[in-house]
Amino acid sequence: MGDLPGSDRPIEIAPSVLPADFARLGEEVAALEAAGVDRIQFDVMDGRFVPNLTFGPDVIAACRPHASVPFEAHLMVEHPDELAPRYVEAGCGLLIVHAEACRHLHRTLGHGRSLGARAAVALNPATPASAVSEVLDLVDLVLVMTVNPGFGGQDYIGTMEHKVAEVRRMVLTGGHDVDVEVDGGIGPTTVAGAAAAGANVLVAGSALYRDPAGLAHAVDELRALAEATRS
Ligand code: DX5
Repeated sequence: MGDLPGSDRPIEIAPSVLPADFARLGEEVAALEAAGVDRIQFDVMDGRFVPNLTFGPDVIAACRPHASVPFEAHLMVEHPDELAPRYVEAGCGLLIVHAEACRHLHRTLGHGRSLGARAAVALNPATPASAVSEVLDLVDLVLVMTVNPGFGGQDYIGTMEHKVAEVRRMVLTGGHDVDVEVDGGIGPTTVAGAAAAGANVLVAGSALYRDPAGLAHAVDELRALAEATRS
């Protein structure tokens, strides 16, 4: 039990709202909270870092009064420093920047914390774990992408599990207080592999919204499957 990487950290379910009905986003985040999620992730895309365009800070600010769970902004953008203050003002308590978008990652992570937010770094599938080895003291979370970012509904890249384990090992051996998150293709058939490798925060989009038994059932099932890897 205790020797499994990350088993000391609670399993958290973080929905991506990308598959939600954008015409009713306030109601949708309230429904996610009622379904028992631990936090909500907004996939912020600028049409440059990824070939898709999504949520400006005003959209997230409009959702903020509809739920009390923490919001995180997954910034899939070329210039996160410029946008970060607006997303903190909008109510995001965690800013996730991509290592691939930051020329000065150490400075960018410090900037996020100076805004009063928690800081996190994301790695695209082709980026090795070593890209975060020098900034683990500056982050609260490392996100290992399990799809190439930009779209929901893609297939899980199982070969990322070794990177999840490597990041968890770096966190443990360095004595860092850091969550390990995975994002992309997470569902009933993939969540156990990611959790067993060391991920404790699990982002899911389409798997939650396509469950015929509803959101609460989908959230409970993912949590149970992830926690089962620890017993
Ligand atoms: C992709 C996003 C993911 C995606 C997850 O770039 O970062 O959050 O929306 O959706 P699913 O779970 O459908 O892969």
